Amino acid sequence: MKAINLLATTALIALVSLPVHAQTSPKGVWLGRDDGAAQTPPMGWNSWNAFRTEVDEDKVMGAARALVDDGLAKKGYTYVNLDDGWWLKRRQPDGRMIVRTRIFPSAATKDGATSFRPFTDRLHAMGLKAGIYTDIGRNACSQAYNLDSPNLPEGTAQERQVGLDGHEAQDINLYFKDWGFDYIKVDACGLADYAPGSKRVIDNGYIGLEPEIDRSSLNRTDDARVEARYQKVATALKAANPDGDYVFSICDWGMADVRRWGKDVGSSWRTSSDITPNWSSMLHNYDSAAGRALYAGPGHWNDPDILYIGAGDFDADHLTEARSHFSLWAMLDAPLLISYDLRKAPQALLDIWGNADLIAVDQDKAGNQATIAYDSEDAQILVKTMSDGHKVAALFNRTASPQTVTLMASHLKLRSDAPITLTDLWSKAQSAFTGETTFTLAPHETRVFSAQGPRELANGLYLSEMPGAINVADDGVRNPELDPAIHRMIDPWGGSRSGGSRPMYAGWGGAQADATPYGETLQIDGQSFTNGLGVLGNSLLQVKNDKGFTSFHATVGIDDSTRNRDRPVTFFVYADGKQVAKSPALRFGDRPFELNADISGARVIELQAVNDSERNEIPVVVTWGAARLERP
Ligand code: GLA
Repeated sequence: MKAINLLATTALIALVSLPVHAQTSPKGVWLGRDDGAAQTPPMGWNSWNAFRTEVDEDKVMGAARALVDDGLAKKGYTYVNLDDGWWLKRRQPDGRMIVRTRIFPSAATKDGATSFRPFTDRLHAMGLKAGIYTDIGRNACSQAYNLDSPNLPEGTAQERQVGLDGHEAQDINLYFKDWGFDYIKVDACGLADYAPGSKRVIDNGYIGLEPEIDRSSLNRTDDARVEARYQKVATALKAANPDGDYVFSICDWGMADVRRWGKDVGSSWRTSSDITPNWSSMLHNYDSAAGRALYAGPGHWNDPDILYIGAGDFDADHLTEARSHFSLWAMLDAPLLISYDLRKAPQALLDIWGNADLIAVDQDKAGNQATIAYDSEDAQILVKTMSDGHKVAALFNRTASPQTVTLMASHLKLRSDAPITLTDLWSKAQSAFTGETTFTLAPHETRVFSAQGPRELANGLYLSEMPGAINVADDGVRNPELDPAIHRMIDPWGGSRSGGSRPMYAGWGGAQADATPYGETLQIDGQSFTNGLGVLGNSLLQVKNDKGFTSFHATVGIDDSTRNRDRPVTFFVYADGKQVAKSPALRFGDRPFELNADISGARVIELQAVNDSERNEIPVVVTWGAARLERP
């Protein structure tokens, strides 16, 4: 009896002292998803921007041959990915997917069952890998948006249901085990564009599916259901690929708060709508990923979409823009998927895709997406920390006029009293500076430099220098908010036939490097921090300590920018699940508090900020100022 009482009391104490949000509690183990083949961002070719649904075997094999012959494959461009258009129908009643052999003749079989195996065999024999495309719902994007395509699925309503819904394991097994694909892109029009009773569904005789994604409303999008559907595919992929050699590309265009869960489910996730070959669209897609460095890392990448180099504003007559597009994608650790008819590519474009220095930036194994060291609507400075510790800086002129940009040693987190050498990764010219150096950027120009010099932090790393080793286990966002910091292009589909361009990407309030979750300067009680992490209260950040650092330090408190000034926040640090430091409950306006912790031997450091809060209360903004790992 006594023992039971004691147990009950202990349980009660445990309950009472539990953080308010159980999901923020420390886990003691690394939860970041780092399995799958995309240890560095996938590179290769995709058919969509080059051919739309008018893809065929000759065109794809032509691209594959060009990748090999032009030396791009050797440089890492190995995935050859089919997009929309390859399918003929879903055979009834067994549901087997049938290839359109008119455009993929090698898939024909005597019994009519069709097989992509000869096609993937050929790609594999060339040292390449093969990618296929599907939809998470029942119908695909082309069935909504390319109705005059000669390559739409054919047959009865059931036969035209080519998406994964209800066939997840069957299709994944067919594509990966039987047909030998290595990569899959899973689009989401099936969840957005086929409302029962809608004109599209009636006119085309589709079977409707109640939308789970509302392209114009966050509140009407069912994030949890969309996530669960993609998770189901992830499970099927794992089962079909015990060797882990697969890439899972989530394509829900930044909807359904994929910013939060994409990293736990897929190898990459689209952060925005489709890129079009114009500068404004490139800015839009770039912005949708540029503030999300903490969400990417080895095995999981932000995807601002395939490249549009070779067309429109990025064609061979616009090499400045084409180089900018490529430089920015490389800085963002984005997948590098060429989408151009490579059978006739001018050398000037091949030189862009083939820039080995920029490819090395994108493919660096630490997976630290560049963070924004200087931000404005005119120009930005992006800085990326490479695995050997050296820095790469991109100076980006967003505008159509020249811009003067000063790069400072502090942007690079390098010492301002010692020379820093720069190598221009396009021209290869070398230079040096101490303190700061100024450049005039041509309209739309991006200059990219590798930078070497003594580090500000001689024996450590700021956490904002190692986003690839951070897992945002819980960013504290309870009510997703639209991200207003994204360039609002004229919608390429509807033009100005609406009241305005309003992207539905929930990203506002997400954890940020060297800025608050709302893009402000980190500042506690008047003390500002150029280095640190900004996050909301009731959050948990995990840091992988695989370099054997022995101590953790940070100056913490409630950020001066917070709109909620009522809640005290307590900061905790855990090393492999054991509490190693804790702050008092800190209120708005309290002096910043120093947290120092011994983390010797620990593999996973966890940073937790906890406050009471009511449902729908405005979140508290907290700052982990100068957060860093050090060794003696
Ligand atoms: C969607 C995707 C594109 C492409 C097309 C194919 O728009 O976002 O990347 O796959 O569908 O129809």
